[in-house]
Amino acid sequence: MSEELVNRCECVGRTFAQLKAYESFEQAQQATGCGAECEGCVPYLKLMFQTGETAFAIDDPRLP
Ligand code: FES
Repeated sequence: MSEELVNRCECVGRTFAQLKAYESFEQAQQATGCGAECEGCVPYLKLMFQTGETAFAIDDPRLP
């Protein structure tokens, strides 16, 4: 099984690379609704705004 990277909010159909254009997680969520549906992407989105990276292993060790 190949390793899948988490690189988008599936619920709103936006990649982390697109969402990175916003200043913060809160602004991205206000503008697009990302992270407000299943919330599965929220820890990755927060890590994205901390690190500037736009793709993460599903079990990234930096996740809370
Ligand atoms: S994947 Fe982002 S809210 Fe569901």
